[in-house]
Amino acid sequence: MSDLKLALINLVYLVAASLFIMGLKKLGSPVTARGGNQLSAVGMLIAIVATLFYQQILNPVEMIVGLLIGAVIGLYLAKTVKMTGMPEMVALLNASGGVASSLVAVAEVERYASIGQGIPPLDTFIVILTILIGTVTFSGSIIAWGKLSTKMSGNPILFPGIRVLTLLMFLGVVGCLVYMYQGMATFTVDQTPVLYAAILANVFAFALGILLVIPIGGADMPVVIALFNSYSGLAGAASGFLIKNDALIIAGALVGASGIILTKVMCDAMNRSWLNVLLGGFGGDSAATGSRDFSQATVKQTTADDAAILMSYAQKVIVVPGYGLAVSQAQHQVRELADLLHEKGVEVKFAIHPVAGRMPGHMNVLLAEANVSYDLLVDMDDINPEFEQTDVVLIVGANDVVNPAAKNDPSSPIYGMPILDVDKAKNTIVMKRSMKAGYAGIENELFFSPKNAMLFGDAKATLSALISEVKAV
Ligand code: TAP
Repeated sequence: MSDLKLALINLVYLVAASLFIMGLKKLGSPVTARGGNQLSAVGMLIAIVATLFYQQILNPVEMIVGLLIGAVIGLYLAKTVKMTGMPEMVALLNASGGVASSLVAVAEVERYASIGQGIPPLDTFIVILTILIGTVTFSGSIIAWGKLSTKMSGNPILFPGIRVLTLLMFLGVVGCLVYMYQGMATFTVDQTPVLYAAILANVFAFALGILLVIPIGGADMPVVIALFNSYSGLAGAASGFLIKNDALIIAGALVGASGIILTKVMCDAMNRSWLNVLLGGFGGDSAATGSRDFSQATVKQTTADDAAILMSYAQKVIVVPGYGLAVSQAQHQVRELADLLHEKGVEVKFAIHPVAGRMPGHMNVLLAEANVSYDLLVDMDDINPEFEQTDVVLIVGANDVVNPAAKNDPSSPIYGMPILDVDKAKNTIVMKRSMKAGYAGIENELFFSPKNAMLFGDAKATLSALISEVKAV
């Protein structure tokens, strides 16, 4: 390969990496996020095509056919996946990233084995790291997908000796890897045993990924997925070092870093530590419920016409969307209601909790789909001081993110989690189907407050009824 060709490919990788970084920057705001995504996708396309040309892996016809097949599958998935199914889709993508990196590592060992040459120590170390992270990401992500998609039970699966077995699997990976490390340096002629050790390390790492994720409750899977997102990036970066591909190193490092940041943001917004998430025991059947007894407490109910009158004559209404809004797909109805109230001279805003729903930015994406103006969406820290001067807070399918137990009940499992201070408003209306708990599996004392009224029913149907009543006021 001539120097000119090498310089050219490096230049192309630089352009691709710049597009990744600019795309990532644009993802920071809902206004520019779509463009950012497209920019990064163009960067990835450039990097893939350039690599295939540079390495002369495929001829142009094969390349176009491959790109078309991939594009059709990607387009189909993007169009058909439900918003609530996004974390599952990300889990599958993480699994693909993990297994791809592991296969690159095994292929690299096989390449050295076939030429009977010892692998340099640094490369050996990277092979080891790639197999460990890549395969754990693969099997762990598959389990996360199974739990989220209810293909398997979301309850934590624990059995006697699971921790010991997990440790044994980890030691198994380490054992294979130590053997590989020694073997790679010394077996300069026959690398086959090293190749077998690499395959066995993958088997142990596969089991390790399963054992690490099955004890975690299904409800914590979004955090696990964010963590595996980061791992898949790290595995990608490691395999990039192995095959000396700068674009892969940069893309992997960006995914690795953003995944870790996302995991931290999610854990902070839930007031949980990573260790607490990874050790399981939150949500699901075994959830703690706090110390308060609400069995004797009374709940006030309201109707769509009473709620419509209250909101129509209010000066300020804040809408709090939650997971139930996504479930009922009522984003268009909630926007229509907000528009109607606005026409009546009511000030309307949307309060966005960072972990409302089941994935980061869930509510922003949902409301953007219904063309709710971005400047009406206000983050938790900015909206909290406004609740005191608010006449009505309309809570649509949200539960944990407005539960005052997070502030008032030290025995509550969500104690310390930052919440929207809706209890400070003059009135609250909670729209949900029943008195059932939310994700954390705990009672919500807000429902029993004298300032609160429950408006029971599926969010979409109830919002439609509210819209008709507001029109009639
Ligand atoms: P939740 O606390 O899960 O409550 C959602 C409520 O929506 C439920 O109580 C449910 O009550 C109601 N609902 C469900 N379907 C409905 C429908 N069709 N119509 C009307 N209501 C419906 O949701 P939240 O307040 O958004 O809080 C999110 C929770 O998820 C937090 O605990 C958070 O820590 C956790 N979490 C979030 C993330 C991210 S990144 N967002 C990740 C992991 C965990 P009914 O069944 O009675 O209708």
